[in-house]
Amino acid sequence: MKNAKKYAPLWMPAAALLCVLALFLASPETPAPALESAAATPFPTPRGLRVAVASDTHFDPDHTDKQSDLGEAVYNMEIADAMLHDVKAQGAKLLLLTGDLCNSGKRPKHEALVEKLRAAEAEGLTVYVLPGNHDLAPLKQSEFAALYADFGFAEAYSRDSASLSYCVLRDDVMLLMMDTAGYGVSAIDLPGAPKRADSNAFFTEETLHWAEELLQTAREKDIPVLAAGHYNLLPEISRTENTGYYVENGVRFASLLREYGVKLTLSGHMHLRAVYEEDGLTEQLTECLIAYPTGYTVLDLTPETIRVLPRRVDVERWAAETGQTDPVLRGFDEWQEQGLEAYCRETVEAMTKKNPLKEGEKESATRFFNAVMRAYWDGSLAERRETLRQLEGYDSFFRAAEGYSYGWWLRDLIETASPKLAGFEIDFH
Ligand SMILES: [Fe+2]
Repeated sequence: MKNAKKYAPLWMPAAALLCVLALFLASPETPAPALESAAATPFPTPRGLRVAVASDTHFDPDHTDKQSDLGEAVYNMEIADAMLHDVKAQGAKLLLLTGDLCNSGKRPKHEALVEKLRAAEAEGLTVYVLPGNHDLAPLKQSEFAALYADFGFAEAYSRDSASLSYCVLRDDVMLLMMDTAGYGVSAIDLPGAPKRADSNAFFTEETLHWAEELLQTAREKDIPVLAAGHYNLLPEISRTENTGYYVENGVRFASLLREYGVKLTLSGHMHLRAVYEEDGLTEQLTECLIAYPTGYTVLDLTPETIRVLPRRVDVERWAAETGQTDPVLRGFDEWQEQGLEAYCRETVEAMTKKNPLKEGEKESATRFFNAVMRAYWDGSLAERRETLRQLEGYDSFFRAAEGYSYGWWLRDLIETASPKLAGFEIDFH
């Protein structure tokens, strides 16, 4: 087994900025239960149309050095394969990729991903993609749409002339696939796109008008609508300029969705799993695929309801079924747990340079941190809130974290954890 990795998970930069989320853990005598391996977890069978949503795949054939300590990221190609395998194994008919498909807007990376998506479609999966902020420049909008023609753009019921937004009608569902990614002015070349001076994500008046006409059509035909984008709509940070999360006119788009009775919108970008709700509109954020816990979102759609479930890619099953010999892939769950544990230990160690703890306190603070992270990612944080507050490491951790963003972040996660992180069901129509 390869040594535990030494790196900050890809969700940490986003985590440090996030104010409203959810997390949790166990007692010092009773170690936090490990996330069960994907293979050991019974997963519900599909109910209605099953749609998988993966985000921030950051696919990168140039970033695969297994000797580096960059964690799951160096397995980005294998994880992409395992994810495609897993969504098919779980009975998903559609896969939505909500942006940051590749690590940069370089054509060869996208071509390599397109090849994989084409193979998945040949086996019966339908894939629709959205651009993220990493996906363009040097690639231009028109080139992106041409590359992914078979993954949404050429199959669209309608395309927006002012952006890479498009709409598909499939299985009596309307998907509004919205281009909400700040990918920079040099990539903007669609004839109807506006000239921009900044790299914020935005909805133009034209795009809002286009979306409203489609929502009107859906209403007239009595078709339920799902919306998706890369940037988020409801978190406060999405409404704050110059954050890298800001969506100009995002509030207006969210209002439009509510006006037409849309219940769920999907996004990524934050690299975290989270659920936001505001005035009847729910937003499900899907985590970065190539970080712990290699998760994606499953939606089960019936005409009446949407069931949202978190799912962890069964990398080990894919590795076994495809004859992979790398021991990391064959023992992926344990490798990930070791990586998370090492990350928690190193973080506590680093913070105690400024805020010293005794050795025993460091140990319990590390166990506390690890337990919170596991509970957050397995969706049980809300349920375990009280148990976590009583852990021996609780006080030690927050003493060590004094003056560090981890302090307020973890406290906020624990206090605001939503039970919906474990999955939930809402009306569709
Ligand atoms: Fe992003």
